[in-house]
Amino acid sequence: MANLVNEKEINESRQGETVLLEDGINEKKLYIESYGCQMNFSDSEIVASILSKEGYGTTRNMEEADLVLLNTCSIRDKAEQTVRKRLTSFNKIKNERPEMKIGVLGCMAERLKSKLLDEEKLVDLVVGPDAYRDLPNLVKEIDAGRKAVNVILSKEETYADVNPVRLGSNGVTAFVSITRGCDNMCTFCVVPFTRGRERSRNPETIVEECQQLWTNGYKEVTLLGQNVDSYLWYGGGLKKDFEKASEAAKATAVHFAGLLEKVALAVPGMRIRFSTSNPQDMSDDVLHTIARYGNICNYIHLPVQSGSSRILELMNRGHNRQEYFDLIDRVKKIIPDCGISHDMITGFPTETEEDHRETLSLMEYVKYDFGYMFYYSERPNTYAARKMEDDVPLEIKKRRLTEIIDLQQQHSLERNQEQIGKVEEVLIEGTSKKSEDDWFGRSTRNTVVVFPKGNEKPGDFVKVKIHDCTAATLLGERIDE
Ligand code: SAH
Ligand code: F3S
Repeated sequence: MANLVNEKEINESRQGETVLLEDGINEKKLYIESYGCQMNFSDSEIVASILSKEGYGTTRNMEEADLVLLNTCSIRDKAEQTVRKRLTSFNKIKNERPEMKIGVLGCMAERLKSKLLDEEKLVDLVVGPDAYRDLPNLVKEIDAGRKAVNVILSKEETYADVNPVRLGSNGVTAFVSITRGCDNMCTFCVVPFTRGRERSRNPETIVEECQQLWTNGYKEVTLLGQNVDSYLWYGGGLKKDFEKASEAAKATAVHFAGLLEKVALAVPGMRIRFSTSNPQDMSDDVLHTIARYGNICNYIHLPVQSGSSRILELMNRGHNRQEYFDLIDRVKKIIPDCGISHDMITGFPTETEEDHRETLSLMEYVKYDFGYMFYYSERPNTYAARKMEDDVPLEIKKRRLTEIIDLQQQHSLERNQEQIGKVEEVLIEGTSKKSEDDWFGRSTRNTVVVFPKGNEKPGDFVKVKIHDCTAATLLGERIDE
């Protein structure tokens, strides 16, 4: 994940980022843009793979596309507004080229179902996150001039056997999805409604995909799920049905720590990351596994959302402030020098100044390396939308957000300053955005490191001595040439 610390940047980079396909040689052209979380970027790679079998090559130029797909995000209202604007601008082009078809995938497709198609007439095709295998049929329907919708959520679908087409790839880092859906039902969150119930992917197919990536020259893999710590493979099926499984299936079940170990052993030269961890599900087994294997990065993205136990309970997060501190203490003890980042929400219903100060003091205790911070956005149908009043005025939400962003900036700078004089192992990802003469890569703790180019190449692991920093970046010099 990019090292972003405020909502504006997140809107520009995380939600507004586009993935453009490489130019293909196939007869029909597909253009796809992804918004929102890493899972959406990963899903677009599955979609491109499924459609490549239907003769769809890929283009970076939407003006020449036969099929334009938007893989969408519903997490906050702003994310949906961004997509709506984009759909409106696509429709202007479609007015001139009516043969061009437009489809919406992902969370907005699932949330709004046929509304974007029937009422708003913005799209020809609507496909939810579990229905991508049906795309070949659905595309035939729209080619025949009919509208097509499939938003059925599945109990089994993990796309385990689909070999993703790597999109917009740097050839060094890749995502591999390990679970789909989420059972946690945080009261503010739309994901359980748009991505369905939680299920895990067969570990053998995960290991094979990682080995394939290693063979193809990739050096880092991020295992993806809404709640990776909850990973549980017992032969297939929903997590909630585990209790009904046979004794034999239960006895051989694979938990997240076991999966991490399998991957670490299968690709010992590869860096392994994972996202996202959930405090209520993170086990000490996972922490010990990270500590035991040098190729599992010392970095945990551990969203907390609030520092107030009262608000955490209203959010249904399954832990209180003290339990989170205990977990952080165990992380710091078991994995010394572990990078830790967070997600935080300001202005959840009923949040007082006292609750907000508890958030600030929790941040002081943890001293996160970085964070993704948002103000609360009410999402239709969630428990919070149905049962609680969105009663914190926007200007107060925004002021509190500014305060936590400022504090995080200060902590990010302090954490980075602690690295000055130290040597980091850096995996080079590419040329620095700011200077052609510098490489950028990441440390095991997921901090961006920039240093002058020598005769290295992307994908190399190098030792860099840190001599300066900003809140977002470590600056240094290679010392192992
Ligand atoms: N477990 C998921 C969380 C997805 S949502 C993962 O893999 O990251 C990412 C973050 O968006 C959440 O951690 C939360 O901080 C924020 N978020 C979710 N719903 C929100 C809402 N209604 N308003 C504001 N922020 C929200
Ligand atoms: Fe959302 Fe909570 Fe799951 S934030 S994705 S319901 S862990």
